[in-house]
This record gives sequence, structure tokens and C-alpha cells, in this order.
Amino acid sequence: MEIGREVIERCRQLAAHTEEPGSITRTFLSDPMRCVHADLRAWMEQAGMSVSVDAVGNLRGSYGGATADAPRWIVGSHLDTVPHAGAFAGILGVVLGVALVKALANSLGGRRLGFGIEVVGFSEEEGVRFGLPFIGSRALAGTLDDAAPAKRDADGCSVADAIRAFGLNPAAIGEARVTGEALGYLEFHIEQGPVLESLNLPLGVVTSIAGQSRLEVRFEGKANHAGTTPMHLRRDALAGAAEWISAIEREAAAVPSLVATVGKIEAQPGAGNVIAGSVRMSLDVRHTNDEARARAVKHLLDSAQQIAARRGLVVSYELRLDQAAVAMDARLIEMLGGAVREGGFVEHRMPSGAGHDAMVMAERMPAAMLFLRSPGGISHHPDEAVLEADVAAALATGLHFVDRLERVNG
Ligand code: GLV
Ligand code: MN
Repeated sequence: MEIGREVIERCRQLAAHTEEPGSITRTFLSDPMRCVHADLRAWMEQAGMSVSVDAVGNLRGSYGGATADAPRWIVGSHLDTVPHAGAFAGILGVVLGVALVKALANSLGGRRLGFGIEVVGFSEEEGVRFGLPFIGSRALAGTLDDAAPAKRDADGCSVADAIRAFGLNPAAIGEARVTGEALGYLEFHIEQGPVLESLNLPLGVVTSIAGQSRLEVRFEGKANHAGTTPMHLRRDALAGAAEWISAIEREAAAVPSLVATVGKIEAQPGAGNVIAGSVRMSLDVRHTNDEARARAVKHLLDSAQQIAARRGLVVSYELRLDQAAVAMDARLIEMLGGAVREGGFVEHRMPSGAGHDAMVMAERMPAAMLFLRSPGGISHHPDEAVLEADVAAALATGLHFVDRLERVNG
């Protein structure tokens, strides 16, 4: 089968493994993740890889180099999704990694490279289940917070419980860390935005990834009867939160390159005839400049305090993620750009507004990323798509990139 089509069909097959029939939702170590592992494991083995699962549930396929102690290259992306996701964010990078090894093994005809290739399907990047993004890549990079295993999901299940329920051992998380010599990290990912399509280009070489802050914010007021409590005697947590959301939107619109989002909100007790006594909400703030992001977060929290004080509410927050902006490795950007041109494509360099496992891996080793055009600029949505020809272009680029790596590291 033509390679672009095979990769897309595999992604669609994996999309059928979901927590919610009829839509794609797959969070950290949920049951459908077992089926994703089973399919990917079979494809990895067919491509000549030996496969293991580490203690945070990263699926790791290893294609050895010429010697047992050869260093390795890591190619990866994530297996989890947002709720009601598309079929390609994350998983495409893993399936493409397997296709890369398969194509490489065919072209080498038994010869091995001076380095091995490890394809990693990270168990968690989106942060949906525990509000704690990058559990998979942080474990690999050795930067997972000591408090992470105790974090609980909405049902009270901790990260450590989820690991045990999946048949893994949370005490062995430290062993997931990359050991030995790792030369670098490459991630394929859909762009998740409209830029490449607007330029009519299939591929983009990522130069940097915007920093992110993620917080959980609570407004506490007083629940009371919706019919008997006059407006001026209310302490309505939801009305306070709503005022703050509007302030967030105004602030973000006024600061160049700042984006800020409240994507989730829960009001208690949650009845139409009861004034909301408490609200729990998410806040996601991103900027390519870390100081600008920190300033924005502080300003937004100050405005929450002012709104709360005026309305007789109490506001509190927990910082869930403070991820600095990260530059991709300059030498790898050159090599990846050269590989794009060698395949006959235009090299376009661009920053990423979305977060990626590459930003965590970059703390541990040189990292590079290749974007594939997102038709319609759509992502984190069921309409997410990718073109067969663009997948073939990414694979050809990956093969040229490995060639270049071999010349440098072989
Ligand atoms: C990860 O997909 C993000 O939210 O940027
Ligand atoms: Mn992603």
C-alpha cells in the first residue's frame, strides 16, 4: 500500500480505541490505551523493533544500531488525546516513526546504522486526566515532579493508582528515564494551525515552542436560593468567574502574541435554581516570551483577586504547569531544513504555539520537530486531517534526515 495511505489508515484504526464510542477520547492509561499498545506493538515488531512499556506507560520500540552499545536517536510523540479529539494529533508522530523505521530497514537491507532508533509513544501529553501534561516525556527526560504520582483525577484515582491498574509499577518510574547515550529527539506532528496551508506548503521546520502556564482556579462564594436571594445580597461564584473570563479575553487580546484560555469550568452545586457557591476552572496562558507570560499570569491573578474582593468571593489557585518556551536545536534545525529541501520541498521555519513532547525532551537532549500541514487549520477537533502526500513528504524528509545523521554520527 502507498505509504501515506497506510500511515493515515493506521491512525484511523487507532482512533477506534476510545473511552467514548462515537468520538475519540483517550486519556492517560485508560482502558483503550491497551488496544493502542497492542496494535502499535504489532506494527513495531513487524518493522524489526523490540518493544517494551515503561512504568509510566510509554510504549517504546527499539531498533538497534550496528553494535550493542550504539547510541540511539529517539523519535516520538504522544498516544493520549483531548476529549472529542481528531485522529492525528500526537499519534501521527508515533505511526510515522514506525513507518520511518520500516522504510529504513527495507532500504538498509540488513545493514545497521551506527546508532539505534527508539520510537516512543508517550502515554500522556495533553494533561486531560490529571491536569498534569507531559507525564510520559517528563518520565523519559527524568523531570517528572516527585509529587506527580499522588495527583488525583476527577474520580479520586491517583497517577500511581492508574499506573498500577494498567499492570505497571509506580515504584519503577525512575527507570523510565533515558539512560546511555541519546543523540537527540525528532518529533513529527500536525501543525494544528493554518499557517502551512495558507502558504500552500506541506511541511514546516519548528524553530521554537511557546511557553505555557496552566492553572486550576477556584472562586468560592455562597450557594443560596435563586428565587429568594436579591441580586445585591448574593455571593455568586459563577458570576464572578464569568466576569473574570471576560477580563482574561480582553487582556490577551491587548497583548501581542499572548493567548489565554478558560477551556473548562465546573459550578457547584450545579442546579438551575441554585446560585453557584463555588466554581473550579482551568486557565491556560501561552507566549513565546517567558517574561511576558509570567507578567500576564500575575496580572490575570491580580484581576481575579480584585473581582473576588468586590463580589465578596474568595479566589485561590494551583499552578499545574509552568513550562518555559524552548528553542529547538540550531544544528538540527539546519539538518532538518536540509532534509526538507533534499526531498524537493520548500523549507519553511516556524514557531509552535502548541505544546509538544519535544519541549520536554529538549531539556535533556538536542530536539527537532517537523510539522505537517493541517487541512483547514483544524486540530483538537474530530475534523482534524492530514494529506497522504504530506505524510509521504514527511517520511521522505525523515529518511533524508537519518542519512544526514548517519554522516555526522555514523
Ligand atoms: C498540546 O497539544 C497543547 O495543548 O498545546
Ligand atoms: Mn499534541
